Amino acid sequence: MSWEASQFSLADFYYSDSDSPLTPPADYVAWRRDTAWATSLYEPVLCDPAGPINRLRTATGEQRVINMTSYGYLGLVRHPKVIAAAKQALDDYGTGACGSPILSGKSTLYQALEIKLSALTGYPAVLLFNSGFGGALGCAAGLMRKGDVAVVDARAHISMVDGLKVGGAKIAFFEHNSARALDEVLSAHNGARRLIFVDGLYSMDGDLADLPALIAVAESHGVGILVDEAHSFLCCGNTGGGVVEHFGMRAKVGVQYGTLSKAFSCGGGFAAASTDLIDYLRFYANTYGFTCAMPPSVVAAASAVIDVMQTETWRRAQLWENAAYFRTQLQSLGINTGESTSYVVPIVVGENRALLYQLGHQLREHGLFVTPVDYPTVALDQARFRASVTALHTRALLDQALQIIEDVFVPAMREKGLLRARAM
Ligand SMILES: Cc1ncc(COP(=O)(O)O)c(C=O)c1O
Repeated sequence: MSWEASQFSLADFYYSDSDSPLTPPADYVAWRRDTAWATSLYEPVLCDPAGPINRLRTATGEQRVINMTSYGYLGLVRHPKVIAAAKQALDDYGTGACGSPILSGKSTLYQALEIKLSALTGYPAVLLFNSGFGGALGCAAGLMRKGDVAVVDARAHISMVDGLKVGGAKIAFFEHNSARALDEVLSAHNGARRLIFVDGLYSMDGDLADLPALIAVAESHGVGILVDEAHSFLCCGNTGGGVVEHFGMRAKVGVQYGTLSKAFSCGGGFAAASTDLIDYLRFYANTYGFTCAMPPSVVAAASAVIDVMQTETWRRAQLWENAAYFRTQLQSLGINTGESTSYVVPIVVGENRALLYQLGHQLREHGLFVTPVDYPTVALDQARFRASVTALHTRALLDQALQIIEDVFVPAMREKGLLRARAM
């Protein structure tokens, strides 16, 4: 990407001066062409199931890469028992649910997954959604109305924020993970019907919500909280019950939201809460009732994942061990890993967005598959690669990845004066 092109971002083309919504803005079209080489890193095509090693389709054939982009954190996407369960469901229940869960889309498999998730979360009731994003959107829109105030961590995922816009609530952001800022925002909206929205583990930063501090503030205001555990459920907590379990906060969190796409390596989402609240969301979260239920094979796979994780708890332990190793090795190279304390590890480049894309290509050419995350998804001076560590990355693979980073990323960053001093 040229320096000129890197001065623009997707944030610049939201409003259009074209005559018709069917005609994208001319300057957007030109910018996309100018940046085509850089952004060809996006929408890569994989030739096999997402795993620690993959083959990527290239213009000339296929390339073997160490995959640190996919978020199947527990390495379950190729698990034989999970695949067998999905295949059996295809035989027993067919390819699709052929109906919304309210009308006809629920199967005995579906009901069994609700019960298992209820046991795992510790909440009495669970609502399943056919999309993680859609479920979050539906919950936010279903809970919050015009006149309500949603008090939202500044780095919360866009799915909740979009849902809040649909519902029409006022959105009041507070500084990321700051109990002091939360207190101020709650005080500023005293008297309104309020609900706090946070992620359990932040998907671009890899840090955990400081639930003990945030919930103490929430309680002092008498305000409830929803925690989106898309990236933490099954990986955090002794039994996989997420950051809520990790901090022992089950009784204090009104809604625990999770997805089945990340650690579960399936697809879909769920909300866990009291029986009455789930029953309310059943009819007011439109992304539950006005869309087809999850396909039976996906339901069966998610259910099998829960069974597998009853015994294969080593996956969780290995994930955390791998994450700690990879992160500390990066830091010892002087690389900025932001606030990460988990298996989501930012490799921060900074504000030089042209360099981000150049490095993205070079890392891939050397066999490391990490995808750039650019503004406006992260702050303008925080462009980065997001590395996802999984339980199945062996020490040898992590060392190979680190060697590529040392050979490619470190010298380029040092040349631009962007590297921190090496940790001793
Ligand atoms: C915090 C959070 N919530 C919701 C979602 C949406 O989940 P899904 O990818 O399953 O649609 C994501 C996706 O990355 C996420 O990070």
